[in-house]
Amino acid sequence: MTNPISHSLLPDNSTVDDDGMLAIGGVRVDDLVAEYGTPLFVYDELHIRSRCQQAVNAFGDGVAYAAKAFLCTAMARIAHEEGMHIDVATMGEAYVALQAGVPAESLVFHGNNKSEDELRYAIDNRIGRIVIDSFDEIDRIERILSNTGETIQALIRVTPGIQASTHEYVATGQDDSKFGFTVSTGWAGEAVERVSSSDCIDLLGIHAHIGSQVFTLESFRRAAEVLADLSNLFQLSELSVGGGLGVAYLEEEETLDIEEWGQTIKKVCSESGVTARVTAEPGRAIVASAAVTLYTVGTIKKLPGIRTYVAVDGGMHDNPRPALYGSGYETFVPRRVEDPRNFPITLVGKHCESGDVIVSNGYAPDDLVVGDILATPVTGAYGHSMGSNYNKVLRPAVVFVNEGSHRLVIRREELSDLINTDIG
Ligand SMILES: Cc1ncc(COP(=O)(O)O)c(C=O)c1O
Repeated sequence: MTNPISHSLLPDNSTVDDDGMLAIGGVRVDDLVAEYGTPLFVYDELHIRSRCQQAVNAFGDGVAYAAKAFLCTAMARIAHEEGMHIDVATMGEAYVALQAGVPAESLVFHGNNKSEDELRYAIDNRIGRIVIDSFDEIDRIERILSNTGETIQALIRVTPGIQASTHEYVATGQDDSKFGFTVSTGWAGEAVERVSSSDCIDLLGIHAHIGSQVFTLESFRRAAEVLADLSNLFQLSELSVGGGLGVAYLEEEETLDIEEWGQTIKKVCSESGVTARVTAEPGRAIVASAAVTLYTVGTIKKLPGIRTYVAVDGGMHDNPRPALYGSGYETFVPRRVEDPRNFPITLVGKHCESGDVIVSNGYAPDDLVVGDILATPVTGAYGHSMGSNYNKVLRPAVVFVNEGSHRLVIRREELSDLINTDIG
């Protein structure tokens, strides 16, 4: 590899200053590091807003941002301001969205095993839609609501029997899945009938999510066909195809277009005569390429004839995807963003595991030195949100940049945060 990092992997509003330094949203990366330190997640706010707008254009009212990809109050507000609903999968995600001022009516509550507390929280806060995942959950909801006179609005999550080509850990549409009511066994139909006759559940529609990081529109098309048949059969008013649109992380990959995704799904539905509102809930496609993570190089270990390990001040605590799924990322050095990268490196973190690899096959310019800032692009989804305090590291800060200004939206953790819940 000798090419500079491809601009298609950088946030939309990335530019290069005269001295070769990357700026995002009009703010130089070295200035951000001087102010906030590393590791640091830098999100291009206008990039996020434009992807939200694309989703709303593609699907219209009701399209939801899947908060699991990345959530903080600033993010929830942006999604809401841009007209998206918010998909939350736990009481914690619902809490953050509500704290951000997002109206409860705009929330869609998911989860294959919602606890009684979570269901009560959703009901008490009048969350707009609960996506029911199992017969046990129907029982639980009916028990909670019995004799209260209250009702909820719900969707039924179905498992359409579509094997999406993605990592097995994030494929969810196949019959052998912990999620939803299986269509092929007849359970989906049974669930719709049962919920339709419930006194306390107002059934709005059906939902499916076939998996994440899916690159074949054909998989979505097939899932939409299954949903369309069910929706027509039961004359339901809402149909959601979930999220899952694939995003490029590597030079050789290509991000799928949100609007094309919407057109594909809407076409299947209109050809099948669906009258329901057709919608979706993208997460990764909204935020993944909006962010880069900045690290400081701490050690460079050249093993002759084997490889060069470059260790940075982050690791699997800010990005567990490589360790979990073997996910690939690119690397670059922001001070030389337009220069060839001819130095092959393995980017590793600071944890006590050999599996703490952030990028197995990365490249840097050959003058890389200890103290340099090194970046990984496309880290806006499932990085900070899946992060941890493993080894009692402090979770990184998150900054939003926008037209020359920057604001801290999640502060870096302090040592005292590590014992906040420790009662001795
Ligand atoms: C029910 C549901 N909807 C939406 C999403 C978002 O998926 P993605 O971020 O791939 O768009 C997920 C991800 O796991 C999900 O489980």
